[in-house]
Parts: sequence; C-alpha cells; structure tokens
Amino acid sequence: MKVLIVGSGGREHAIATSVAKSPRVDKIYCAPGNAGIGQLAECVPIGAMEFDKIVTFAKENAIDLTIVGMDDPLVGGLVDELEKEGLRAFGPRKNAAILEGSKAFSKDLMKKYNIPTAAYENFDNPDEALAYLETATFPIVLKADGLALGKGVLICNTLEEAKEGVKSIMMDKAFGTAGNRMVIEEFMTGREVSVLSYVDGKTIKTMTSAQDHKRAMDGDQGLNTGGMGTFSPSPFYTAEVDEFCKKYIYQATVDAMAAEGREFKGIIFFGLMLTPNGPRVLEYNARFGDPEAQVVLPRMKNDIIEVLEACIDGKLDEVDLQFEDNAAVCVVLASDGYPVKYDKGLEIRGLENFTDKDGYYCFHAGTKLDGDKIVTNGGRVLGVTAKGATLQEARANAYAATEWVDFDNKYMRHDIGKAIDEA
Ligand code: AMP
Ligand code: GLY
Repeated sequence: MKVLIVGSGGREHAIATSVAKSPRVDKIYCAPGNAGIGQLAECVPIGAMEFDKIVTFAKENAIDLTIVGMDDPLVGGLVDELEKEGLRAFGPRKNAAILEGSKAFSKDLMKKYNIPTAAYENFDNPDEALAYLETATFPIVLKADGLALGKGVLICNTLEEAKEGVKSIMMDKAFGTAGNRMVIEEFMTGREVSVLSYVDGKTIKTMTSAQDHKRAMDGDQGLNTGGMGTFSPSPFYTAEVDEFCKKYIYQATVDAMAAEGREFKGIIFFGLMLTPNGPRVLEYNARFGDPEAQVVLPRMKNDIIEVLEACIDGKLDEVDLQFEDNAAVCVVLASDGYPVKYDKGLEIRGLENFTDKDGYYCFHAGTKLDGDKIVTNGGRVLGVTAKGATLQEARANAYAATEWVDFDNKYMRHDIGKAIDEA
C-alpha cells in the first residue's frame, strides 16, 4: 500500500520509521517532510495546511492511507477534506480534534462528564477575566483557548503578573486568535506524565507512558518549548495510577466525545498531573506527542498500519497492543537560542554514525537538504533516541549517542531523565 504522512517534525520521522517497518507498505510519501524523513519516504513540497494540494496529491497518487501527524491540520479539518473525496485518513475529524483545538471546550467537557481536572472558568471578555482575578488565589494558570505551539500557558504568581497575562493573551493577542477566549484555572502540583492512546470511536487502548521535559534549560528553568527530551516508561505511572485513570479518565473521555456527537478516532494524548489528590488531566492533544512519539513508537511491537486501520474501522478491540519490556530516552538537540531566536542552515555532521545501530535512532525535527549536505532548519533539530534494558541504561546510551552528531550551536539539556533516579 501507499501511505502519505502529513507533517515535518521528529514525530513524523518516528511515525515514518514505524510505517517503513510494516510489510504491507510499498511506498511512503511525506508532505512536506524533512531531510531525515526523506531517507525513508519521498518528500513532496506541500505544506501541512495546503489542504487542496494534499487532497489532490492523495487522489492522483492513489494513496491508500494518509496519516495526519500535526495538530493544525487536524484542528483545521484535513481529515474531513480527505474523507469527502473517499480517501482513507487517520486522525480525528474537525469536530473531534476540537478536544485539542479549544481548551475551553475540553474543560467544559471534563466538567460535564466528571473527568478529574483543575477547577477553572472560561472567559470571552478581558474585563471579566480581570475582575475574576481580583479575588483569585495565586499562583494561577492562564491558558489561551486555541493552538499556540505549546506556548499559550502562563503560570502567574501574583495578581499583577496575571493581569499582564490577560492583557497579553486577550488584548495584545500574543498568541493571535488563540487568545480570543481564555481559561483561567487552578494551579496544581505534581509530576507530569504523558499517556498516548489509540481510539476507534468506542474502544481506547493506551500506549506505554512517557514523560516530557518542556522547559528549555536544565533543572526545568527557562522558557517553555515544544519539548526538550522524553523518557518511557514513566516509573511514576504506577499500576495504581493506571487503574485510577482507566476508571475515571480514559474511557470516560472517549464516551463523552461520542455522547456529544463528536466520535473520536485517532490518537488522544492525555497530559496528566499526578497531584496529591490523584491524577488530573492537564490537557488533551489529538495527536502523537513530539517528542513523546520518539520514545513510545520505537517500543511498540505491533505493525502500526494494522493499529491505525483498526482505529479507522472501529475494530481496535481486536488488536492486542504490545510494547517491549525495556525503556527508551530521547534527548533533543536544539539550536542554541531556541525557543526564541536561533540560526538555521548550519551543517550537521556525523549522521551516518546512526546507520545500522540497533536500538539507536536519530529522528530529524528541523533539518533540510542543502545540496548534498544536511543542514539545520528549525529550533529543535534532532531527537537522539536510544533504548536500554532499564531507564538508566537507555539514558546513558542516549547521551553517548548525542556525541555522534555535531553542528554549530548544538544545544541540549543534560538532565533528561534525571527524575528516574528519584523513582
Ligand atoms: P498545557 O499545554 O495545558 O499542557 O500546559 C503546559 C504546561 O503548563 C504543562 O505541561 C504544565 O507544566 C503547566 N500547567 C498547565 N496547567 C497547569 C495547572 N493547572 N497547574 C500547574 N501547572 C500547569
Ligand atoms: N510534547 C508535548 C506535545 O507534543 O504537545
């Protein structure tokens, strides 16, 4: 079969790597892809938001399955556009991707269906938000309603900071139209865990857990980023936590979406916080996490195509989802200055060191071909992933492998997976 993947980051490279292992797949295309994906797939110069071009390409090339990796095209309705033309696509339709696309929607859903999350209020009007803050307790959390590249969340310690936050989100539109509405919610404490799951509209099967590191600098300092590294599984995701989430969160979310007439087929990513009062949902995403996909997918034993097709066909109950009994760690190599300002176009050396190294992966996040060289083309450049029998071993392997590649301005956190030692 012929598969088209939509997206251009480390997540899409991880998806492509899994798809390439499927004996059912003859040819992979990626729109727009990157230099690493280009080693497995034919990259086509079509942007992820160019829906007409994607649909035309899929029709003309008789694509059997399109996998939409990124949030923007999902929230914008790319799956609906493909289905209208009779094409098969993996990912939620627009009316279900709203689970990620609107935080106000997801909070209201959780409240209506008693899914545990932080207490909150939604606001359409900045004056009302400012008035609400006068009697609030601090710290408090402000969230732009819409998609904001993972940056639309502000944790404010004082009333002054929070007022500035409301101004920046709702009045100055720091995150564009994502800030037309806003959620103000209770500040929670605890460890964070990401649990990704496959969903077919009725059945949900969770994947092995993972933990991201969102801040740019060691010790969880600095600005929020798309994610600087991950490990899987999370030792803090115990059987007890799993049992609680199965009882109150996972199936409840799928059933809630179905009850709202928004049947969800695709990936639900549960961003959880393990608070002293039990697990709470921090956020939902409607796609694989990035870099979570880079540690979760390499550990999945199933043929990914069979799992994705089972989701589309409502047959996920027939799939025996299995993960390897090992661990993986991903360290993101970024360009120094990310997430604010950084250079692009710097030559990357040493990529060949990953060829034929079992259990090691160099997923490309922001790279492109420049003549016969591969150069940096984004803030997050590479995701170096290694497996190990234990988390400690995987971490040592991943950090050793970060030395195999080099580019000017190479930057990474040195404490990815440090939390493992506290487990
Ligand atoms: P989100 O995009 O909603 O996951 O938020 C980004 C990050 O902000 C999360 O990973 C948390 O570290 C933090 N965060 C979000 N909501 C809360 C909350 N209610 N309490 C404490 N931290 C939060
Ligand atoms: N790593 C977090 C995300 O993909 O949203």
